[in-house]
Amino acid sequence: MLGVQRWSRVTIIPPTDADLLAIVSQSHPCLAFIAPTLLKVYIALRGSPTSPKSTRPLSPRDLLKWANRTAFHCSSLTNHTIARETWEDVFLEAIDCFAAMIPPSPARTMTIERIGSEMGFPPERVKLYIDSHAPTLKDTTHAINVGRVLVPKAPSTTPRRTTRPFAYTTHAKKLLEQLAVAQLHREPLLLVGETGTGKTTIVQHLADLLHHRLVVVNVSQQTESSDLLGGFKPVDVRTLAVQVKQVFDGLFERTFSVKRNEAFLSRVSEVYDSQDWSAFGKLLKAAVAQAEARFVALSEEEEEGGARKKRRMDSNLKGEWGKFTDSLKMLEMQQAHGKGKAQAFSFVEGSLVKAFRRGDWLLLDEINLAASDTLESIASLIREGGSITLPEKGDIEPIKPHPNFRIFAAMNPATDVGKRDLPPALRGQFTELFVGSPDESLADLLLIIKQYIGHLIVGDERAASDVAHSYLKIKRAAEGHEIVDGVGEKPHFSVRTLSRTLSYVADTAGMYGLRRALYEGFCMSFSTMLEKSSREKVVQDIIEGIYPSANRNVRSALRSLPKRPAGNVVQLGHYWIECGEETPQENPQYIVKAHTSVEQNLHNLASIPNLASGSNVFGKNLHG
Ligand SMILES: Nc1ncnc2c1ncn2[C@@H]1O[C@H](COP(=O)(O)OP(=O)(O)OP(=O)(O)O)[C@@H](O)[C@H]1O
Ligand SMILES: [Mg+2]
Repeated sequence: MLGVQRWSRVTIIPPTDADLLAIVSQSHPCLAFIAPTLLKVYIALRGSPTSPKSTRPLSPRDLLKWANRTAFHCSSLTNHTIARETWEDVFLEAIDCFAAMIPPSPARTMTIERIGSEMGFPPERVKLYIDSHAPTLKDTTHAINVGRVLVPKAPSTTPRRTTRPFAYTTHAKKLLEQLAVAQLHREPLLLVGETGTGKTTIVQHLADLLHHRLVVVNVSQQTESSDLLGGFKPVDVRTLAVQVKQVFDGLFERTFSVKRNEAFLSRVSEVYDSQDWSAFGKLLKAAVAQAEARFVALSEEEEEGGARKKRRMDSNLKGEWGKFTDSLKMLEMQQAHGKGKAQAFSFVEGSLVKAFRRGDWLLLDEINLAASDTLESIASLIREGGSITLPEKGDIEPIKPHPNFRIFAAMNPATDVGKRDLPPALRGQFTELFVGSPDESLADLLLIIKQYIGHLIVGDERAASDVAHSYLKIKRAAEGHEIVDGVGEKPHFSVRTLSRTLSYVADTAGMYGLRRALYEGFCMSFSTMLEKSSREKVVQDIIEGIYPSANRNVRSALRSLPKRPAGNVVQLGHYWIECGEETPQENPQYIVKAHTSVEQNLHNLASIPNLASGSNVFGKNLHG
């Protein structure tokens, strides 16, 4: 380090066990009598060297988190006895704090067994947890009750947006319980799991259930901290005007009667819509003058100590109008200088700051890909009681988080060589959960399948299990390297591939009939990206799986054309494709020979809008 000799070096030694005991007992006096037990569990786990490499080590922060959660359960204790049910809840908290980040493995089981034995639970109880813990979920008007926790919903006038199929599998309910507890304690949460295991879906679903808006940021190496925090960006008059109008609407409504000022407001909207920025500025200035006059009148009234205020003004309002005047001036300046063409720079808040201020939930997807300065800004934010200061903007007052603000992050495990991991200091600040695949249990898989196509399989109940077994068979073949994709790599199939297939089936079963739609959907999602012999194997598996008792004629039946749907459609092979608005143009140089790869590709493309992958010479863009 440069100039190291000018610094005095102080080594901070980690807290000793006695220190930890004192910290736990003093920060939660109600726990003083069980603090030694809590510490004993932590010490037993801390030393265990069995965790897989990709798991983060435990730190005193985890102990304090557990103590905090335990204090929540014990807050109403009157004497030094903890009811059995409460101690069970404390056990579940310990598992979430110390074992939930470990992928399913003997190490995870051992950790849970250790927690159980240190806390005095018989091995049968621990085994029951491991084999069959399944929280219940009750959704009422004002709260959701999931497992051990009751979480109030945010008051909301907007109806829930959930239109995506969501199956309450045991996998999903366990995760919902873990997420709900963490967000109740305002812990930042990190979900680690393979792609397509439902990490984004579960956070989105909980946000919808609790009426919070979720902002998802797909982090990449190109994400700069200014994308999250904000920065000066060039803005034209229109962009400024949009911001000004938004603030104005909010302020006006809180200061004046909207009803009595209808004529004025409609004039404002009129000039705004016609983009007459000079008239727009003048009208807003008039409103500012009115507001100022009102504040003067109010303070005089107050001084006289008499006349009742008709409308109570909140104390911030005056300051907010003051700030608004500044942005109005900015708009005027921009308008005067550039006559609407030149660009000014204005501070545009990043997604993180916006969510922080408004009280939205924020999900940072693929957080491990972020550059180190972006990670640093995230770390400073999630430190306890974190607040943000934006010196770039000229702010000296830190922004405090809205009480509803929560932060979630998701990433794939960094088990493969070359995958980026999170810096340990940042990772340790999150409550970490490992998310396994929802298809590990057949019952869960069937629930998901029924969620998508349940209404179509009435009278053909076997269809769900045929789908499940076909999916599992193909997935196993991929994992066992029996099949490879077009570039010789192992294909990755997950519940995402399955859900895409089933959404397609739900859309097309009316045209094709259920089984045929399943066949087409499976071929589209599971076979088109494979190398030739793998594809043939998978198509054969699909036929056997979807038509388990069919005779040999099934292949020719599958080549028959479905009934023509309504609307303007053309036929390509055995598909009907909806026509666009443009007139078709023949390209005489493009040759489609029967039974060639070109024809095959066209058929694959026809079946769905998909991602054309392959090396450049294959001509992905040629025809369409
Ligand atoms: N409980 C469920 N019910 C219905 N569908 C589900 C459920 N869980 C997951 N899915 C489906 O699985 C698919 C993959 O989920 P999601 O996108 O959340 O995965 P992810 O873990 O965020 O993946 P990535 O790491 O690639 O971001 C989605 O299409 C979703 O609809
Ligand atoms: Mg995701």
